[in-house]
Amino acid sequence: IVSKELSVGRAALSSLLGGIGYFYGQSKIALPKGFSQKNGDKYIPYWPAALYTAVPSRSFFPRGFLWDEGFHQLVIWRWDAHISMDIIGHWLDLINADGWIPREQILGAEALSKVPEEFVLQYPSNGNPPTLFLALRDLASGIHAHQFSDEEAEKISTFLKRAYVRLNSWFQWFNSTQSGKYEGTFFWHGRDNMTTRELNPKTLTSGLDDYPRASHPNDEERHVDLRCWMLLATNCMRSIAGFLKMDSSLEKDYYKLSDQLSDFETLNKMHLDDKTGAYFDFGNHTEKVRLRWYEDREAMKRELLRETLEAPQLQLVPHVGYVSLFPFMMGAIPPV
Ligand SMILES: *[C@@H]1O[C@H](CO)[C@@H](O)[C@H](O)[C@H]1NC(C)=O
Ligand SMILES: *[C@@H]1O[C@H](CO)[C@@H](O)[C@H](O)[C@H]1NC(C)=O
Ligand SMILES: *[C@@H]1O[C@H](CO)[C@@H](O)[C@H](O)[C@H]1NC(C)=O
Repeated sequence: IVSKELSVGRAALSSLLGGIGYFYGQSKIALPKGFSQKNGDKYIPYWPAALYTAVPSRSFFPRGFLWDEGFHQLVIWRWDAHISMDIIGHWLDLINADGWIPREQILGAEALSKVPEEFVLQYPSNGNPPTLFLALRDLASGIHAHQFSDEEAEKISTFLKRAYVRLNSWFQWFNSTQSGKYEGTFFWHGRDNMTTRELNPKTLTSGLDDYPRASHPNDEERHVDLRCWMLLATNCMRSIAGFLKMDSSLEKDYYKLSDQLSDFETLNKMHLDDKTGAYFDFGNHTEKVRLRWYEDREAMKRELLRETLEAPQLQLVPHVGYVSLFPFMMGAIPPV
């Protein structure tokens, strides 16, 4: 007899492994606003590429998702580290010259058939959490802790050595394009500051869909989840550089940023709300927004549009939710 927990675990693991697929095709990359090709297309195709990936659902989401993948690999590397490295390697091969990886990989007709049109184009200004570092961190620290056989450890370090240049360029993409107005701050870029159809403009790039949620997006924002992702990525790069014995000025930069982002006082100053004792995002925000029906008599239609009843102000955005847990989950809170 198998315990209930074990049978749930077996079902989850086999669904995850059964969802691994191999795709081939070309992503569609949005051109900047106002640009189009001669034939009217508002995108250019990415290069034809292959992706080996664990999809979230074979029947409903038969495509690769950058941020889901890191979580999938947390499980899969324990099953078979070689499959994990193969999958992560495929993702790193999709990096462009700027260090950007398209977030949703809609490769081939099967994948495309399941995607609503509005989500097909990929925007080179938009990121997605660098979750692959979750699995890479485990692999790197597994070597430190002698968790693998000599042969396996050898293969993993060869992989990390070969991946290092791309990981660095991916990291640099975040460090330059998603940085905030003040040093050491980060925010998810690409939020829609013009929409009137949402209470708080949704931000799929964060992976969380309903965070960040400052009501009036602008570049004063700083997002606590992204700060924590940067801490994870920085520490992971630092640890890989450490055991590869790399020690150039680049590695010194990683050490420096890692110390900066680990600073508990700075974290608290930027994100801790004293009243509730919770970690929040910061941005231009008001709680007094609502959706109201508007009639357009000429067009004979009704629309739900946003009304702002109070001027937004720069402040911590008072919503306790998963972003509040990030400093804890990512180990940014020192043990007492
Ligand atoms: C919205 O963002 C664009 C691009 O960053 C900027 O040019 C524009 O001034 C912003 N509009 C408002 C209302 O903040
Ligand atoms: C991240 O960007 C900042 C600001 O440009 C730079 O000073 C720092 O060296 C960068 N960190 C790394 C690890 O590249
Ligand atoms: C906050 O948003 C409002 C409305 O878009 C804008 O008028 C105001 O300048 C913004 N405040 C700051 C400090 O950016």
